[in-house]
Amino acid sequence: MRIILVGFGVVGQSLAKILLSRASDLYTLYGINPKIVACLDSKGCAISQAGLDLDRLLEAKLSKGTVAAYDECQSQLSLADVIDGIEAELLIEMTPTNLDSAEPGLANIISGMRSSKHIITVNKGPLALAFPSLVELANHNNIKFRFSGTVGGGTPILEFAKRCLNGERIISFRGILNGTTNYILSKMEDGLKFNEALNDAKAKGYAEASPSLDLDGYDAASKLAIMANWIMGLKVTIRDIKREGITGIDLSDIKNAAMNKNSVKLIASCDNKRLEVKPTIIKKVDPICVNGTLNAVTFCSEYSGDKTIIGRGAGGMETASSIVRDLIEIREAIAEDVL
Ligand code: HSE
Repeated sequence: MRIILVGFGVVGQSLAKILLSRASDLYTLYGINPKIVACLDSKGCAISQAGLDLDRLLEAKLSKGTVAAYDECQSQLSLADVIDGIEAELLIEMTPTNLDSAEPGLANIISGMRSSKHIITVNKGPLALAFPSLVELANHNNIKFRFSGTVGGGTPILEFAKRCLNGERIISFRGILNGTTNYILSKMEDGLKFNEALNDAKAKGYAEASPSLDLDGYDAASKLAIMANWIMGLKVTIRDIKREGITGIDLSDIKNAAMNKNSVKLIASCDNKRLEVKPTIIKKVDPICVNGTLNAVTFCSEYSGDKTIIGRGAGGMETASSIVRDLIEIREAIAEDVL
């Protein structure tokens, strides 16, 4: 399968490492032979119709800061030229999330769909701002569109609700959708200061390029908007969500909660069509009361009651693993269409 990678930050590089280490079992187990024919970052691109050498690509990024250093004769093609002009079956969009305009991710996804490429994205902006129209465009162009990594990092929260609970009626759900703030709140409970915990989260690659997206609840709200569209069938954007972040929380709030066997968590909830993200005191015995970068969501369903899914919600390798999951699904869906 010929693939274009757009964005080569922490997630893109992690994906390249997974593809290198999983090359043989991806082929033997799933019949997938991924060939990266182009890779773009903010400074340029590397192109090879024969397939880029991923070790060399990683080395170029590490040593020179851009994939454009892969080749001595660098390509002068623009982003749009590459997406429209390079022959490929799949485009993987991994540029940083922008929750104001959704760009450049939105334009990249639309160009990819219009040139009949299947799309995987881990970029929350386009879906948080234009979910219904993107799904419609994907259907119109008859392409597969997967976005597992936009919610839950490596944890299949969307699939759990959509597929495992298929046939159930989900009445409401609530949970922790942002790994960075959960990491900060957990570390503060261990006695660390807010800024020390934030710097730690940045160094470990959990935080968004602009930390305000995590701290002010935008990231959690974007995931809530995606879930509300995909799972509850609501046509909403991030702008419909009531939002409050964690910057007003101090150590005394956390200590007071702990004295009563509670924790302060940034909780995203969808209840009776009311969508909200806000710091909330919850009981330590509540299944969604998880620590570190873990995410946890409890779905309340009509017939079979509450179900909670817990797993790592941030990190390069974790998010890249969701791309591999989507890749396998797209491969299987294409094979079914052919049968
Ligand atoms: N910054 C995000 C988080 C990354 O901390 O959850 C995963 O979406």
